[in-house]
Amino acid sequence: MSILITGLDQIITFKKSNAPLRGCDMRDINIIKRGAILIDGGKIAAIGKEREIKKHNISKKAKHIKMRGVALPGFVDSHTHAVFAEPRLKDFSSRVSGASYQEIKASGGGIISSINAVRKQSPKKMEEQLLGRAKKFLECGTTTAEVKTGYGLDFKSEIKILQVLKKASFKTPLEMPATLLSAHSVPPEFKKDTKKYLEFIMAEILPFAAQKKLAVFADIFCEKGYFSAKESFKYLSQAKEYGLIGKIHAEQLSNSGAIAAGASAGAISADHCDYADSRDIKAAKETGMVLTLLPASNFYLGISKYPNARKMIDSGAAVALATDFNPGTSPCLNMQEVLSLASINMGMTCEESIAASTINGAYALNISDKTGSLEVGKQADVAIFDAEDYREISYYFGDNLNLMTIKKGKIVYKKCI
Ligand code: NIG
Ligand code: FE
Repeated sequence: MSILITGLDQIITFKKSNAPLRGCDMRDINIIKRGAILIDGGKIAAIGKEREIKKHNISKKAKHIKMRGVALPGFVDSHTHAVFAEPRLKDFSSRVSGASYQEIKASGGGIISSINAVRKQSPKKMEEQLLGRAKKFLECGTTTAEVKTGYGLDFKSEIKILQVLKKASFKTPLEMPATLLSAHSVPPEFKKDTKKYLEFIMAEILPFAAQKKLAVFADIFCEKGYFSAKESFKYLSQAKEYGLIGKIHAEQLSNSGAIAAGASAGAISADHCDYADSRDIKAAKETGMVLTLLPASNFYLGISKYPNARKMIDSGAAVALATDFNPGTSPCLNMQEVLSLASINMGMTCEESIAASTINGAYALNISDKTGSLEVGKQADVAIFDAEDYREISYYFGDNLNLMTIKKGKIVYKKCI
């Protein structure tokens, strides 16, 4: 089916098409006023001024939609932990009373407190819950969301999550690349023996997930009390041998050498980066590893220190933005909120935030040749917002301005007005 959308106040495209965008290229956008998008066979067939696009051959037979709004590439949320069984309300109460993430962990909360419910959850219930969340991502204008394991932490449960994810992928238009994050924390049955648990993941879970093609990426939480830089390097190097692309939770609560470890192991992204220093930024720039910033987790944990996005962008490192949607540090799946936080707390311009949450997110998922920007020939992954100016998407917060989401050329969400 072909669709012609006309009447749009603005369509945002990038001047450079080489992903990832860096430095001033992140701010270099084209604003097409009174624009039109022509979609055919799931792809963008033409994009530009309404009067030009209307003349296109395909436009004549296309279903015509006339609407106001600002069209962006659908958000590519490159970091989520969208499979968890329960919210962590006890942790939330402690948080509200001033406890830090580390204090919450020490008192029995944190990642480990999420595993019982996930281990007990039936695949059917898990799938229903995930599909419900996928619907919300789409409603907020996200057309791709990476999803990690990491709340099962034993063979059966981690594989259950990956299998559910695979099955659910056929039932939602949301694209959900899978990441194995069994190295999220050491489960209680390993009695704090990190070495033994990591060996177990590397011998059992990693090869199985890779051979069965259940995951595209492998991630590890590199932090004091979780996994060291040395262990992360070893794990990511082995993952690479199995054909999984590396990602690393890096320098979130302290600088533990995670970015350096990720860069040497050929990881595609280092995520969080709150404590990244100049050497880390240089290493990321030189290796092309994306620095994925997750300001919703800082906001939720009440941390006043945010990643130094300005320094990262101005130094020429590739920067992406994502929600980090999870029950412990970021119960937020709306990328619009992340854009607001990126501007308010990290000094990112509205243009940089858009590039970071679309084309650079796609690059961090190794799919920037297919999605992340509105370009002829790419997947028609589009979100249209109730705004006259793209900056309103960052300016308003706590609202969902999305009017319509299109995934691979199909309208998958339309706001009832
Ligand atoms: O990205 N830092 C590690 N993982 C998550 C938090 C997980 C949790 O607390 O449940 C994060 O912030
Ligand atoms: Fe995370």
